[in-house]
Amino acid sequence: MKIIMLGAPGAGKGTQAKKIAEKYNIPHISTGDIFRANIKNGTELGKKAKTYMDQGALVPDELVVDLVVDRVAQDDAKNGFVLDGFPRTIPQAEALDAALSKINDKVDYAIDVDVPDENIINRMSGRRACVACGGTYHIVYNPTKTEGICDACGGKLILRDDDQPETVKNRLKVYHEQTQPLIEYYSKKGILKSVDGTQDMAEVFQCIVDILEV
Ligand code: AP5
Repeated sequence: MKIIMLGAPGAGKGTQAKKIAEKYNIPHISTGDIFRANIKNGTELGKKAKTYMDQGALVPDELVVDLVVDRVAQDDAKNGFVLDGFPRTIPQAEALDAALSKINDKVDYAIDVDVPDENIINRMSGRRACVACGGTYHIVYNPTKTEGICDACGGKLILRDDDQPETVKNRLKVYHEQTQPLIEYYSKKGILKSVDGTQDMAEVFQCIVDILEV
């Protein structure tokens, strides 16, 4: 089961991707998480990526594509994966298709989590991320047991730098210009599935399970 999550920043891709990965025992591959881990570890890739991420811009394709192509070729991804945050441009989608077709494989589902822009700013200002494990919560919709502390690892929760309202506005603009065309790309391939991402998290997940288990 090879799955791509599509949707605006804050639509809930990461939330749902983690649940899919757990239920179907496939790796969750998030390019945003990979970049944030590199930033935390002070790597060259992290330094480069940070300059784009802080502005709400996309990291250039050449810094992303090889990294993902290598990752999906690893043993644990042989029976499937859920890609979260990749592809984000048509060239990234084409590179993924080319890499999979070399091994006679293809993406099975592109799941678009559809949430209107007006809901996004509210979601992002309430999101909190764990500095230690990257877990994400929401102060209203998915609160932790103890305020400011990650349920999973006890790490400190922060508002991500790129979740400031001005940066979110730019991320939405970039999404509409560069990532939304992927909806048509996967629709033409006949593998696009849309779910209403404004429902509560459990309902969104049930809609996804219904799609995957038809
Ligand atoms: P990335 O980390 O991928 O950010 P994003 O796509 O903008 O997505 P988010 O992680 O912000 O949101 P999400 O949809 O996963 O929502 P979540 O589940 O957290 O990328 C960050 C940056 O890295 C990019 O801007 C770019 O610079 C760079 N980058 C990454 N990949 C790249 C690539 N391929 N090419 C180039 N650059 C790349 O949910 C959001 C909040 O809402 C949470 O608080 C959650 O608890 C809450 N929530 C979720 N679902 C619901 C619900 N149903 N109801 C109520 N609240 C909900």
